[in-house]
Amino acid sequence: MLQHRPLRLIPSLSHSFTYSAASELSASVRRRSSRAYSIHANASVGTGIQNIDPSKLSITNTTTPKQLLPPEELIFGRNFTDHMLSLEWTASQGWLPARITPYQNLSLDPATCVFHYAFECFEGMKAYKDKQGNVRLFRPEMNMARLNKSSARIALPTFDGAAMTELIGKFVKLDERFIPEARGYSLYLRPTMIGTQRTLGVGPPASALLYVIASPVGPYYPTGFKAVSLEATDYAVRAWPGGVGDKKLGANYAPCIVPQMQAASRGFHQNLWLFGEEEYVTEVGTMNLFAAIKNKETGQSELLTAPLDGTILEGVTRDSILGLARERLEPQGWKVSERRFTMKELADAADEGRMMEVFGAGTAAVVSPVRKISWKSRLVECGLADHAEAGPIAQQMKDWIEGIQYGDEDGHPWSYKVV
Ligand SMILES: Cc1ncc(COP(=O)(O)O)c(C=O)c1O
Repeated sequence: MLQHRPLRLIPSLSHSFTYSAASELSASVRRRSSRAYSIHANASVGTGIQNIDPSKLSITNTTTPKQLLPPEELIFGRNFTDHMLSLEWTASQGWLPARITPYQNLSLDPATCVFHYAFECFEGMKAYKDKQGNVRLFRPEMNMARLNKSSARIALPTFDGAAMTELIGKFVKLDERFIPEARGYSLYLRPTMIGTQRTLGVGPPASALLYVIASPVGPYYPTGFKAVSLEATDYAVRAWPGGVGDKKLGANYAPCIVPQMQAASRGFHQNLWLFGEEEYVTEVGTMNLFAAIKNKETGQSELLTAPLDGTILEGVTRDSILGLARERLEPQGWKVSERRFTMKELADAADEGRMMEVFGAGTAAVVSPVRKISWKSRLVECGLADHAEAGPIAQQMKDWIEGIQYGDEDGHPWSYKVV
């Protein structure tokens, strides 16, 4: 039997999750009528212990640089650069000086808490090379903020996002030869945080490791867009009110593979996550979902996506599409809505000739156009002509976002030039 540690307050444990989460939860139990859809644990930053200090970075260069693969042979997430960035944290000392070292295995005791209780969260972001050869990140502060939210929720430490972005910039600069020059290529970055305390006791880890690895990737659609078909999953849910679906925890991903495999076994590329009796449309695979329809009452063109109610991931691409749509589509008469919508609403729009297009949105592909959705033994057509692989809004969003990512729109505030 596992010994459950009593809930106690450890003053040196800077990430005051235990106390704040406990008090927040008990408050939500008292207010039963207003259910907390997602708890936000407190961050540890600013509580007096050592935060990340980029000036203390040490760098050990590899003595065996890897050979670059021809760009066309790159497979997502299979090949990694020469180095990695690592930072250790302890409850008593805070963040220890960052290190860039040759890419290497981790050595962890089999009792390390990450292996038993899933103390793990991560991010997915990219570095791009612009026409002048500058390295750029896209809205890195959003990834850092999301990683802090994820880590605080599982009692891992938080950190200064701007300092971490600076370190990531130094790491990417060191390995910049791995970013192919051509448009569509990038360096996928995987910041990862794990609890490293060696214990089978269930409690807040007193030590953690934050590391970043990098994998060069090619264009998601090397030969142009390919629209996907989806199976609406009505027998399993990805997330639920009060759960952790809005956090990027490794534990959210493994349970999604079986529904994905089942959809694939029936010939669909991805599964579409529905929620509740109403069958609200939430996310597609590991992307947020957008639909463009003509509004039933007003006939106005409406770009729709599910709201941030705690059951969907707060996608950086989702936020960027909403921002661009409000700035550039609303003046053209579009309505941009973050609201709940059901699978039936999409099917009705398709049946009544009001469906314009549907697409997924995420860092990997920017947008992923959808041709059809299998739902209740029927196929809901998503507005693409037979010969078309993408609708105009998906195409426009990809062009706008890539224009910012690759620095074509110079000086855009979402593009972070690494110096
Ligand atoms: C479940 C889920 N939803 C949405 C997204 C899209 O998020 P982003 O645009 O930040 O890549 C991701 C990818 O990280 C995801 O894993």
